[in-house]
Amino acid sequence: MTTHPSWFDLSIKSALTAHQSPEHEQAYFVYQLDALKAHLAKLQQQDVIKLWFAVKANPLSKIIQTLDSEGFNFDVASSGELAQVLAQGINPERILNTGPAKTKKQLSAFLQQGVRTFVVESLNQLTWLNEAVIEQKLTDDKPAVLLRVQLQWQEGEKNPLGGNSLTPFGLSVEQWQSIHVDDFPALNLCGLHIFQWGNMLSNEKMYSLWGQMVAPLTGLANVIGMDLKILDLGGGLGIDYLDQGQTLSWPQIIEDLAKIKAQAGVEELWLELGRYAVAECGYYVVPVVDRKMNYGQEQLVLSAGINHLIRPAITDQPFPVTLLRSDNNAAQGAEQLFDIHGPLCTSMDKLGRLPLPNDVEVGDELVFGYCGAYGFTESMPFFLCHELAAEYVFQDGQLTKVRAAQAAASYLA
Ligand SMILES: Cc1ncc(COP(=O)(O)O)c(C=O)c1O
Repeated sequence: MTTHPSWFDLSIKSALTAHQSPEHEQAYFVYQLDALKAHLAKLQQQDVIKLWFAVKANPLSKIIQTLDSEGFNFDVASSGELAQVLAQGINPERILNTGPAKTKKQLSAFLQQGVRTFVVESLNQLTWLNEAVIEQKLTDDKPAVLLRVQLQWQEGEKNPLGGNSLTPFGLSVEQWQSIHVDDFPALNLCGLHIFQWGNMLSNEKMYSLWGQMVAPLTGLANVIGMDLKILDLGGGLGIDYLDQGQTLSWPQIIEDLAKIKAQAGVEELWLELGRYAVAECGYYVVPVVDRKMNYGQEQLVLSAGINHLIRPAITDQPFPVTLLRSDNNAAQGAEQLFDIHGPLCTSMDKLGRLPLPNDVEVGDELVFGYCGAYGFTESMPFFLCHELAAEYVFQDGQLTKVRAAQAAASYLA
């Protein structure tokens, strides 16, 4: 009997094994929308935090629509993300704008399109937003503004959000102390934002980090004359990509955040979830094009790799994998470790050293799990002029194409 990893939702398996890839489709992403909806509904069963979706994790229309249907609001970090969320019919009042590269032009354009919630990350952004509100005569409809704070920590941990290293995300308490809310009369300066750690897998660690933020943040609010109503703690809730048995307890998070909310004395506590909202619902399916033994190591070469799925190269953490075969052609024999490579001319194009049945062969398809976040749009699809991945959704037992794969001719000039 074939066994399946816990992350693989078997309701999707027969649709994937039956799927015939059309021309130009080297590999595809598929998102299980029914499972996503059920997961999001669970996250909403609480009244402690207001939930936003960090669109950067997966901006596919159907994903945004599913989050919308479960009452999530949207954090956008570029004009492209804003356009995509508005195109799904979302009211701009449910959109929040974060990001360190906001120009005055972008801030003005966001205001014009109805966005009224901003996380500002520099003194310039603050001044420009204040000016733009006055220029657009919006002082009767002031935007809510949160200042993004970057703290320094004793612990030496780093990660893509910075951890303990200096990043362009926000400003130190000392820098923000140079302002006073009365200097920005066109803005409703009512909150603080802080987010420095990604993919956290320990409730205790998260609670400890959040707890250490409260005193410096409430202290800052006092100094600058801010009535601190909103605290936004960003994202960072992790996924156990390495299957180490370290999963976060959502009820514990809610219990911990209720305490943080009380300690900070805020009316609203916000999170903008990326991977914790959508990673589990997504899979990436890709065929094996070659298998060889090299210096005693079994190697598989896939038709696509980090050109579709770059995260393993950035974080050194693979996505988990399984072999996709119909039940009447089930894998035989024991598992062994394979080095799994993509087609690019760089040794970075490696999706991991992972266990697979030892009869895996050319023409087999592999399924990678937890690919619903930081997949299609995070990757580097143009290098070596390969095809762009397709994107499908699975809903009510049906596999539906949302984005067709595209040959290189579609983007080469
Ligand atoms: C401002 C902001 N909020 C939220 C997120 C989502 O993070 P995560 O996927 O860890 O939940 C990110 C990710 O980079 C971010 O930059």
